[in-house]
Amino acid sequence: MSRTDPTRPLPSAGGPASGPAGGPAGEVLLQASGLSKSFGDLQVLRSIDLTVRKGEVVVLIGPSGSGKTTVLRSLNGLEVPDGGRIEFAGGPDLDFSTPLRRRDRFALRDRSAMVFQQHNLFPHKTVLENVIEGPVQVQKVPKDRAVAEAQALLDRVGLLAKRDVYPHQLSGGQQQRVGIVRALALAPSLLLFDEPTSALDPELVGDVLTVIKELADEGWTMVVVTHELSFARAAADEVLFMDGGVIVERSGPREMFTNPQHERTRQFLDRILNPLHEDD
Ligand SMILES: Nc1ncnc2c1ncn2[C@@H]1O[C@H](COP(=O)(O)OP(=O)(O)OP(=O)(O)O)[C@@H](O)[C@H]1O
Ligand SMILES: [Mg+2]
Repeated sequence: MSRTDPTRPLPSAGGPASGPAGGPAGEVLLQASGLSKSFGDLQVLRSIDLTVRKGEVVVLIGPSGSGKTTVLRSLNGLEVPDGGRIEFAGGPDLDFSTPLRRRDRFALRDRSAMVFQQHNLFPHKTVLENVIEGPVQVQKVPKDRAVAEAQALLDRVGLLAKRDVYPHQLSGGQQQRVGIVRALALAPSLLLFDEPTSALDPELVGDVLTVIKELADEGWTMVVVTHELSFARAAADEVLFMDGGVIVERSGPREMFTNPQHERTRQFLDRILNPLHEDD
């Protein structure tokens, strides 16, 4: 749906732009296949296959350096894979074995919005200015409309009263919630979260995860990199375990966390659940 379409519902009021929750049996929104990526001699992604249906929450876990961020950045057009294909329902459909046109890369970027580990807010802009920046500058949404949408979204995460303050006047959890609102304001089809709570003090993690869980319950489609297994257990339709640039194992959260099939998955989960190895 075009941002200039006056019938487009508010992201906050009408749920996700990708439409009502489809659940795991919903229509396919994104299909990635055979994604590969090297940085110099280092092959970071080796034939990654990923299907995301509308309304689905896919959680990506795996050790540091396994390629999780590179997968998200590839889906968002921030990184260009060396090979493979990314197809969004309604376009674009990109084959990375041929050179990517600039407009294809922008088309890919338009379909998703990313929330980073650090919020990346502009320090010299107020909360409201941060949220309307993308819609007004990039998507050419009329300012009064962008402001109305931004306020509705800020209200939704309990931050309307902070509209006119600067990021340094917010707690880390509040900053991250503004980061989420900034992504929602772009009305993307797909939300990409890259360890959205790992830079937060422990007592702030819950607030941010609650917002993400609520968005999932509303039917937003998302891929979430996180080590918060309680969130994955509660929200994920599918969990993917990555190691060495490969998706080693994929299953529902219950299966993944209670009955992992691969030794690498078992070792990884054991390390998260029991970081001090107290049973050793
Ligand atoms: N722009 C880059 N140039 C060179 N190497 C890179 C670049 N981006 C990532 N890498 C390397 O690619 C590998 C995968 O990185 P990536 O950030 O995708 O891992 P990750 O699973 O997200 O790790 P973490 O859990 O630490 O965030 C790492 O070895 C990393 O050093
Ligand atoms: Mg990462």
